[in-house]
Amino acid sequence: MNPKEFPQIEACFSPRDFYLYEEDFEVVVVIDVLRATSAICAAIENGVEGIIPVSTVEDARAYLEKGYIAAAEREGKIVEGFTLGNSPYSYLGENIKGKTVVLTTTNGTKALKMVEHKETVVVGSLNNLDALVSWIVKRGENTMLLASGWKDKFNLEDTICAGAILEGVLSSKAFRSNEDSSIAALFLAKSARDNQFAFLKSSSHRIRLRNLNLNADVKYCLTPNNLSAIPILKDGVLISQEKFDKAVKAENGGKSNGEDKVGLKTF
Ligand code: MLT
Repeated sequence: MNPKEFPQIEACFSPRDFYLYEEDFEVVVVIDVLRATSAICAAIENGVEGIIPVSTVEDARAYLEKGYIAAAEREGKIVEGFTLGNSPYSYLGENIKGKTVVLTTTNGTKALKMVEHKETVVVGSLNNLDALVSWIVKRGENTMLLASGWKDKFNLEDTICAGAILEGVLSSKAFRSNEDSSIAALFLAKSARDNQFAFLKSSSHRIRLRNLNLNADVKYCLTPNNLSAIPILKDGVLISQEKFDKAVKAENGGKSNGEDKVGLKTF
């Protein structure tokens, strides 16, 4: 294939810039390393049935009142009236397996809701880095790596994660990347590679979480490849890739979608 025809992968630094890129990309990877998307990956890997992202605390409260398990975080803290927030450790217990959880967070779920109209929306973190890279390469579609940032501002940890994903995908030599944002993300990821924890020492959200005594969460979220789950959005619910594949197959009358785009396509 002519390299110009390769699928494209790019990093977008903020949800506010998403509209500049969005029409060229079928797949959107939403990244919120500290902590929303890391917690979602941990939950799905641990057997949580599904996560329903919602934009507002009011939406989450409405679900809570209907008897759902609902979690809400703002400014790094669990919102009053809720017992769950977005610490990955809240989603690792036996009690939560098989359950569906409604989740709202300051940035991560906001980004997820913003892109939910796109063809394919998946969740990225450092925790599921290698699994996600393989999935993107197999899928072979134009892919946007969307950093959730902090209240629409650039943040380091999501950009580093986008850069690490870019590095892995581009090493397949089956994708192209043109944007300066992607070049910058790659540089940052390379600089941070040997010690993300130290590299992010001064990052604003790391400091915010440290002040809330949440260093253990930060350590978890900055641990690359301790998970392999790839949460995918289906009808407003994030589910595991395996469940997604099964559901798509069932909808197609037992046939995988286009020779199983998610699982079997190879280069
Ligand atoms: C978010 O979605 O903004 C984050 O997960 C915030 C946090 O770490 O609590």
